[in-house]
Amino acid sequence: MLSHVDDGFSSLVAKLTTEGRIPCDGYKHSCLRRRVNVRLRATGAESFLRYADLLDQTPDEWAQLRDALTVNVTSFFRDRVVYETLRDRVFSQFARSGRPVHAWSAGCASGEEAWTLAMLLADSCGLEGTHLLATDIDRRCLDRARAATYQSALVQDVPAQLRDAFLVGDEPVTVRADLRARVRIERHDMLAESPPAEELDLISCRNVIIYFVRDAQELLFERFANALRIGGVLVLGKVEMLSGPARARFKAVNARERIYERVA
Ligand SMILES: C[S@@+](CC[C@H](N)C(=O)[O-])C[C@H]1O[C@@H](n2cnc3c(N)ncnc32)[C@H](O)[C@@H]1O
Repeated sequence: MLSHVDDGFSSLVAKLTTEGRIPCDGYKHSCLRRRVNVRLRATGAESFLRYADLLDQTPDEWAQLRDALTVNVTSFFRDRVVYETLRDRVFSQFARSGRPVHAWSAGCASGEEAWTLAMLLADSCGLEGTHLLATDIDRRCLDRARAATYQSALVQDVPAQLRDAFLVGDEPVTVRADLRARVRIERHDMLAESPPAEELDLISCRNVIIYFVRDAQELLFERFANALRIGGVLVLGKVEMLSGPARARFKAVNARERIYERVA
């Protein structure tokens, strides 16, 4: 079956890559197409070619497009068992080592994943031992992550003990200042840039690479391995699989929960 006649999408992608410096090559085109279509509908542009014209005529549309390209769904304690396994199998070992923990939440969206990790790490290893870098490509999301303030309905999956220790207020709820001080939040494009740190103890990159083409995924796994210390741990999303040559550099801590330890 012919998948798509040339409807102008390829030339739009070329424009986004060269003029917008959007790393389109890394994203699955089916996913890009769906996201760009959201902007076509919103602007009333009748075709990809018309939309390309619109980008030329309305520079503000670039920002709207960038926001539309990312899927930002997230939550506190998303897939609770992953976090229970991390706490029991990984963070307990970090705590026993007595060394400070350096972690990276890559693709942290509006911060829920980063604050979940920060609370658990601080609970296991102490505030002073917790250093978390949280990054995303989407600046609007990062503003929300930095504000660290959420409607109470969004924190209902946070265990009461962690909530009492690290969150303040009832409606909305805010992450305590001493925990916020342990977390650095920065913009970072993982397709275009090298990891922002090395000798890391933990990288959590969950529900992000699913949007990337296989080559980009495999390159990232190699980069993640290089950025972790030997014995450092990588966590992926529940439906994401380690693939490519970097697989040989990891062993599963818990394959079902997609938790892997760097061994080489
Ligand atoms: C579906 S959310 C996942 C959020 C969180 N990790 C979780 O599992 O709940 C995907 C996030 O990846 C970010 N993202 C997409 N492409 C990226 C890139 N090239 N570099 C960094 N972040 C990216 C998006 O902006 C979005 O916030």
